[in-house]
Amino acid sequence: MTVSLARITILISGRGSNMAAVVDATINGRIAGAVTHVISNRPDAAGLEYARRHGIATSVVDHRAFASREAFDAALAEAIDAGEPDLIVLAGFMRILGRAFVERYQGRMLNIHPSLLPAYPGTDTHARALRERATRHGCTVHFVTPEVDGGPIVAQAVVDVLADDDATTLAARVLEQEHRLLPQVVGWFCAGRIALDHGRVTIAAEPPR
Ligand code: GRF
Repeated sequence: MTVSLARITILISGRGSNMAAVVDATINGRIAGAVTHVISNRPDAAGLEYARRHGIATSVVDHRAFASREAFDAALAEAIDAGEPDLIVLAGFMRILGRAFVERYQGRMLNIHPSLLPAYPGTDTHARALRERATRHGCTVHFVTPEVDGGPIVAQAVVDVLADDDATTLAARVLEQEHRLLPQVVGWFCAGRIALDHGRVTIAAEPPR
């Protein structure tokens, strides 16, 4: 019997540690899928090197080379479609995407965000949580919709904010949870366990072995 693995394309802008966590989980069999393509909007993103070392096809679509968001989005869509992905994962991808682009991939594009959405959409989430004396913080994996960081939530992981936390220590503890949560959700998606129905997410129980 041939088992077809889901094809995963990951979009990054920098370090790529979340991407690496997903790649690791595909290699050790925790995800029934393969990362077949990594795309960065920055040619110097460190994560590209990691992907190449793992034999994954890489592309750069440099946003600075395009005069408009529409032109960038069109080039990005062309690069994504060339890899024929079943799932697209935004993992530290720091560009806002236009409505038409997002709607093209609705239901098969996930994002990891470093806060407990709907709290703290956008950037600088750890410092904002500390400034507001939040007692809990964390990360969210959600489907991407045209509202930035506003799409249906699939799963979240929570960390306590400690009295002596600064933005660096808090970010590090949240990142640990990101590295656990993102591969888990990608695994659910690739196993066909996540359904999105009229903006509501359901996750089917793990089938008995
Ligand atoms: C992560 O915290 C991600 O949630 C945020 O940017 C960071 C990217 O880290 N959007 P990495 O590139 O995955 O290491």
